[in-house]
Amino acid sequence: MTVRVAALLPLVALLAWLAAAPGQARAQDVARGEYLAQAGGCLGCHVEAREGATPFAGGRALKSPFGTFHGPNITPHPEAGIGRWTEADFRRAMREGIRPDGARYFPAFPYVAFTRIGDADLRDLWAYLRSLPPSPQRNRPHDLSFPYNIRFGVAFWNFLHFTPGPMPDGKGQGPEARGRYLAEALGHCGECHTPRDWTGGLRRDATYAGSTMNGAKVPAITPERLARWSAGDLSEFLSSGMTPDGDFAGGEMAEVIRNSTGKLAAEDLAALVAYLRAPARR
Ligand code: HEC
Ligand code: HEC
Repeated sequence: MTVRVAALLPLVALLAWLAAAPGQARAQDVARGEYLAQAGGCLGCHVEAREGATPFAGGRALKSPFGTFHGPNITPHPEAGIGRWTEADFRRAMREGIRPDGARYFPAFPYVAFTRIGDADLRDLWAYLRSLPPSPQRNRPHDLSFPYNIRFGVAFWNFLHFTPGPMPDGKGQGPEARGRYLAEALGHCGECHTPRDWTGGLRRDATYAGSTMNGAKVPAITPERLARWSAGDLSEFLSSGMTPDGDFAGGEMAEVIRNSTGKLAAEDLAALVAYLRAPARR
């Protein structure tokens, strides 16, 4: 009898392995998704700016010339968060800027950049968001002035400023291609560093030429402007916040470095630096 049980053991082990295998694949997706969420700086807009705030539970006030937006709860809570969403809902939000009920998101949610994220990366991001502990924290309504509070108006804005569709993720295509994906699809550097026209659209003729945000200056990060920094200076700044003069990045950039560029893998950081310094970048 014992002999027979022992003979069955390899089969039992095989069955257990088969049952666990999809779970293991998912754990990998979640880990990749966490990394992508860092590269995309999702936390910065989806957590309150106070000690002990629940990550991704929303509540961050985002000031703009059109009023104050509040980053929503994107944990899988069924009522307070996005727990009832399907993966297709998530893909449509990120790729097209459209809510599950068909209404438009405001471009304070940088879907203009996130639309460039590839399908595989969206899948991993979704796996990561699903893995978060659900938070019951209620969303705070946006506080916008007329006529900017009309979601319908965004359809017209999108017509002017939004071209949906992914770009290649640059893997295996050289550091500059990978860096471009990190800066444009995930890192949304242009959302702060590119000036806007009076309708709030990014000026395509002046990519990374510097801007102002709520009265504060955002410096240019064009290759000409960054030429005074070596590649080493730039990667030091993007990983620790320290400038060549020994100053430290302040304000919004300090948070971008803490949550996002400071967490990039060495290879991705080098790719981002190569892209930022490439003369033919635009
Ligand atoms: C610059 C700020 C900002 C960043 C960065 C940001 N978001 Fe958001 N996000 C918003 C705002 C604001 C909204 C709400 C827009 C609206 O109500 O029209 C939003 C909405 C969403 C929604 C829809 C939630 C709902 O309840 O409808 C999802 C999902 C989402 N963001 C995911 C992400 C992910 C994933 C990332 C990182 C890759 C990210 N966001 C980065 C500001 C941001
Ligand atoms: C939320 C807004 C925001 C985003 C997103 C952002 N930045 Fe910045 N960045 C700033 C601000 C503000 C400063 C000025 C910081 C200071 O004065 O200390 C800055 C400074 C910098 C500087 C220093 C330039 C100089 O001449 O001093 C570099 C380089 C830089 N950012 C690169 C990037 C890159 C690369 C990305 C995308 C991965 C990015 N930034 C995303 C707001 C932002």
